[in-house]
Amino acid sequence: MSKNIVIIGTGYVGLVTGACFAKVGNTITFVDIDKEKIDMINKGVVPFYEPGLDNLLSSYRGKINATVDYKVIKDNDITFVCVGTPSKDDGSIDLIHVKQAVENIGGILKEINRWHHVVIKSTVLPGTTEKILLPILEKKSGKNATMDFGLSMNPEFLREGTAVYDFLNADRIVIGANDERSADELVNLYKSFSLKIFKTSITTAEMIKYASNAFLATKISFVNEIGNMCKKLGIDAYEVADGMGLDKRIGRAFLDSGIGWGGSCFPKDLDALISWAKMIGEEHRIISSVVEVNKRQPLKMIDLLKKHVPNLNGKTIGVLGLAFKPNTDDIRGSRAVPVVNQLLKEKAVVKAFDPKAMENFKKMFLQIKYCSSAEEALDSDAVLVLTKWEEFKKLDFTGKIVIDGRRLLEAKKTARIYEGVCW
Ligand code: UGA
Repeated sequence: MSKNIVIIGTGYVGLVTGACFAKVGNTITFVDIDKEKIDMINKGVVPFYEPGLDNLLSSYRGKINATVDYKVIKDNDITFVCVGTPSKDDGSIDLIHVKQAVENIGGILKEINRWHHVVIKSTVLPGTTEKILLPILEKKSGKNATMDFGLSMNPEFLREGTAVYDFLNADRIVIGANDERSADELVNLYKSFSLKIFKTSITTAEMIKYASNAFLATKISFVNEIGNMCKKLGIDAYEVADGMGLDKRIGRAFLDSGIGWGGSCFPKDLDALISWAKMIGEEHRIISSVVEVNKRQPLKMIDLLKKHVPNLNGKTIGVLGLAFKPNTDDIRGSRAVPVVNQLLKEKAVVKAFDPKAMENFKKMFLQIKYCSSAEEALDSDAVLVLTKWEEFKKLDFTGKIVIDGRRLLEAKKTARIYEGVCW
């Protein structure tokens, strides 16, 4: 049976979740404090770049609404909390948005006399939903969880750039609930997608999210460490990964070596996990090393560059790609940030191009030149490939020095000098 759903927070997780639920017949109301974003959504415009999302939003416009007013919760059955949980300066998790959202929800629950289900989708550390968010909900509403309202934790495993695909083709849906009614309602809601469902407790669901992200980041840092050895020995780390990946216990996914992981999730989630481990007095050696390896990895590009251009002072370096990965305009945690910083420190002249992320990068780096095409960035003393955008494959690198951080093998065919970071 279709439901009336409220989605709090219109980042890529909230919008993709809502749009996909609308696709299977549910009615969606997005709530966000950002009026500008709300106006855009009501016009069917996606406020950021996420492939396939604009199509979904316009196809199911009749089922989608957006507002800044939490009161809409009154007329709905389920509220998903999808607001961000950024890092504080010390790496610990900042719960300000999620607490605020839950306070507002609690205030509305006070005014309604029927069961309403609150689902936490924001990434929060184990224990947060039960020990911090549930008490806020109960206090603000004057009601009891389970009896008067449902509470569950439903982590997301969506990758930016492929979030719509990931939602519709997820390997599993994790449903963390401590009461049957909440668990059953979420199971029914997800039924239309025919995906594998894993039911567990709220705290376990929270931990599954962190453990999954930490493990994926570990795979990448591990393969980068192996890749650095491969580079010294003249071995292709991708062939090694292919050989390893055939073992089902290992798997080939997330074994692409290069300049490391970035994004809005891995960096903040690993920092939060380390900070939390410290707080509860537990060791975090592996996770801390994963972060350390990732900090050093992008600078391998500069070492390789200096092999061919020893003094960067006054040299023009073309940078291809600024987004933390292709198909997004997101530069959070992008490996381009430490690379560009180092180039500037060594007084190089940086000419950068990215098909989507230049506007965001400009907010951090005004002092570099932004090119109007990838070809323009190629007109440099050397070129660094930092993001594997599809369009870079078609470039002509004839005569160029290319240092490749993302395995753009097409560049190898024509470049005068070609160096891969781990191959
Ligand atoms: C990641 C997870 O993959 C999602 O499952 C999770 O839901 C999401 O975080 C989140 O917590 O919200 P995302 O940050 O969008 O998704 O990006 P990924 O595709 O996982 O890539 C992360 C970084 O790792 C990128 O910089 C990418 O270039 C790098 N990477 C990925 C590698 O260097 N090698 C690989 O083999 C794979």
